[in-house]
Amino acid sequence: MSSHWIIDTGSFVAAFLFIYGLKRMSSPVTAHSGIVAAGIGMVLAVLASLLYVINVEAVARPHLLVNFTLVAIALGLGLGWGWRSGKTVAITAMPQMVALYNGMGGGAAAAIAAVELVSGRTSGKPQLGVTLAGALIGSISFSGSIIAWAKLGGRINNPWRIWGQQALNSLVFLATLGLGFYFITKGGTAGNGATALFFVGALLFGVLMTMPIGGADMPVVISLYNAFTGLAVALEGFVLQNPALMIAGMVVGSAGTLLTLLMAKAMNRSVWNVLFSNFGDVIIEQEREIKGRLKPVEASDAAVTMRYAGKVIIVPGYGLAAAQAQQKLYEFVKLLQAAGVDVKFAIHPVAGRMPGHMDVLLAEAGVPYDIIHDLDEINDEFSSTDDVLIIGANDVVNPAARTNKASPVYGMPILNADQAHQVYVIKRGQGRGYAGVENELFYADNCNMVYGDAQAVLVTMIQAIKDLGEGAILNAA
Ligand code: TAP
Repeated sequence: MSSHWIIDTGSFVAAFLFIYGLKRMSSPVTAHSGIVAAGIGMVLAVLASLLYVINVEAVARPHLLVNFTLVAIALGLGLGWGWRSGKTVAITAMPQMVALYNGMGGGAAAAIAAVELVSGRTSGKPQLGVTLAGALIGSISFSGSIIAWAKLGGRINNPWRIWGQQALNSLVFLATLGLGFYFITKGGTAGNGATALFFVGALLFGVLMTMPIGGADMPVVISLYNAFTGLAVALEGFVLQNPALMIAGMVVGSAGTLLTLLMAKAMNRSVWNVLFSNFGDVIIEQEREIKGRLKPVEASDAAVTMRYAGKVIIVPGYGLAAAQAQQKLYEFVKLLQAAGVDVKFAIHPVAGRMPGHMDVLLAEAGVPYDIIHDLDEINDEFSSTDDVLIIGANDVVNPAARTNKASPVYGMPILNADQAHQVYVIKRGQGRGYAGVENELFYADNCNMVYGDAQAVLVTMIQAIKDLGEGAILNAA
């Protein structure tokens, strides 16, 4: 069996596993096995690439001096760091981790391009064009994702803007593009100085483009960079004639593009608007005066009211994840269901801190999928609902999104929780949501606040229902 055959078959199987894995990730029921399949594909792709370097590259071009010690160190570091961070990351810190890994992918594609350009192996104009395009997109994704990582983790707090920002960004971008064209006209012999300048320009543009974007827009931006990374990897896969890279890159690129469009739709924005407008700023000083007052109630009173309701909709948000209260929440839901209450979950597309955050939490607690509903499915049901229980959600139920043009959340579709007969909100105090604005729903006549950590409040609510003493039915729950 020739090594070429092994390499080609390995790459083909890896590419198949990427596509098969992604297909399985589209449903929560099969997602776990999909991730495992894609992971096995990645191991195969790395092994096939190693075999290619050992058996083909090192033999055909001995002067390139492949340093296997460095390769082993890089693999060891990558494996160790990836394994450890994957095992230990808090679910609330997942978006930062995704941004960082995404940046690594873009950086890796740019590094491949840099090696190709410096080694002088790429000389034909079409090939040079593809290599440079991958270098540009990969570098932008790398530096942009690092800024996104810093913003999501609270390391950079405010959008950074200067006068003439758009003009400066355009200038840097055009200068970098110009260098790229110069490179092509020189047939790849423009020298290492020009190559370095090209990369500096691309990296700087990634930073400049991301710095002004407000925090509330970060989910769309990360997903856009994800698409960029996929595209850069696919382009460099084409340069190296590596089918696994090409297919993996195209899969990531197309999935990232679709996700970007979906996220932008969920925020009611265009991608252009996200990148080049100032949405997402914290405009606290422009907030209008809110009428009404906050009305705290005991957790046990709220629980008993819900126990005698006909229909309850639960709106989970970031605070549920922060409190890790999903198991307790489902325990409470089972008690309500055992008492004959119709309970449904309403999930906003950007609730929490990453796409699908709430679905992951509820799946972890074993909540059946048929009572979990998307915004579009459930939004008309709120007006005919007795009680809504909001747990650690804030921005996604803020009515200012419908009416207050000065609000940073204006225009974002929200869950119509305010239209229910009665609303209970579990949160610890008067902390604001991610967008940093006050929520007028909390002051409305039909809304009561249940203050406390979500986990502790739910423990009290569960006990309150059990204390009603309807033992036989409720113990069965
Ligand atoms: P947020 O608007 O962030 O509100 C969360 C609320 O949870 C806060 O008001 C906080 O109030 C409360 N809370 C925090 N810890 C708690 C705990 N231990 N127990 C009880 N309550 C707790 O959440 P949301 O409604 O889910 O909205 C998500 C926001 O994040 C949107 O603005 C979205 O654009 C943004 N975002 C989303 C993503 C993705 S992709 N989902 C990524 C990045 C950003 P207290 O401090 O008073 O408790």
